[in-house]
Amino acid sequence: MAYTLADDASLLESIQVGDVAAPNRIFMAPLTRSRAQADGTPSDLAAQYYAQRAAAGLIITEATAVSKAANGAYLNTPGNYTDRHQQKWSEIGEAVHAAGGRMFMQLWHVGRMGHPEISGVEPVAPSAIAADVTTHTPSGKKPLPVPRALAVDDIAPIVEQFRRAARRAIDAGLDGVEIHGANGYLLHQFMSDVTNQRTDAYGGSPENRARLTAEIVEAVAAEIGPGRVGLRISPGNAAGGMHDVDQVSAYEVLLNRIAPLDVAYLHVLVDPDAPAFGALRGLWFGPLVLNTGRETDTRFCQLEELAQWGVISAAAVGRAFLANPDLIDRLRVGADLNEPDVATFYAPGPAGYVDYPTLEELAQAQSA
Ligand SMILES: Cc1cc2nc3c(=O)[nH]c(=O)nc-3n(C[C@H](O)[C@H](O)[C@H](O)COP(=O)(O)O)c2cc1C
Repeated sequence: MAYTLADDASLLESIQVGDVAAPNRIFMAPLTRSRAQADGTPSDLAAQYYAQRAAAGLIITEATAVSKAANGAYLNTPGNYTDRHQQKWSEIGEAVHAAGGRMFMQLWHVGRMGHPEISGVEPVAPSAIAADVTTHTPSGKKPLPVPRALAVDDIAPIVEQFRRAARRAIDAGLDGVEIHGANGYLLHQFMSDVTNQRTDAYGGSPENRARLTAEIVEAVAAEIGPGRVGLRISPGNAAGGMHDVDQVSAYEVLLNRIAPLDVAYLHVLVDPDAPAFGALRGLWFGPLVLNTGRETDTRFCQLEELAQWGVISAAAVGRAFLANPDLIDRLRVGADLNEPDVATFYAPGPAGYVDYPTLEELAQAQSA
């Protein structure tokens, strides 16, 4: 697959998102790579991996847990809640900056997607409703258990964990954070009218379902400044066994509530042809980053058109960046893209992580 972006393409124009000056509008989408150390400290290879992709307008890191309990969905996913984590993230941030890049850390809590054999603790969720999916635990593939419904007093400490992890990201020298409100994890579970059956201030009406995500965005923005905060949402996304019936109204409430904060960007993972995108697009006046969630032959053509029309401010691209560290250069010249190798997405070690060749390396190999 290849696509050429013209020199005057909108996606190649610079853009200011909050406090960050991005040199182009093709961002690297968050990608879990499951290579972190057992205690949640990122891999020693992570600095190299991210620095290789520093030409992205903005790198959004793999989902990074705000606490031990937040980190139980998959093996070897990183956190940012200990000094050791923070130290490694500062080395990663330094490597990315030295290579000319910019980086936001995606912060998550997995909620009911957690498994006690991974996190060591009982998973929690808005309501005691299990996700009908399996996960890879140290003792093999297992169904997810029924989570414990959070007591109302448990909720403020979770907001606090996001605030602290965001502070650590900034102290580590990163440029900002993205709150992970997408893909069936804790904040999405609260937004949903199916997985959230609470009858207190955090469930029921769209206002109540949006409350936790809004409180986290507000707390983090107050801590590190709104220009360093992004939010990712995926209305209607079925990942993690989600089957939301109401795919719009809690998101409308959320966007209206956080609009006055003037955060850096809203990142939406949705098909741009889906009704939810149209409904939410009209409500958001700040920078909007779109991830279409699909790799098609016409993807870059479609994203470029949306950028030209001003429908999106930037595009987030996942697998194409995973497999092409020099994606921006390849799009400039219309070079074929390396194909991502699914078998190494989550496998330990350097293969499929730091060894995807650049055009220059391919040319060198051919002439050798
Ligand atoms: C290997 C892999 C890991 C992912 N990890 C995350 C993640 O940590 N956080 C997140 O919000 N989305 C994650 N996603 C979803 C991607 O950000 C993106 O939405 C998806 O890959 C579709 O975009 P693409 O077609 O450009 O790859 C992941 C996807 C893949 C393939």
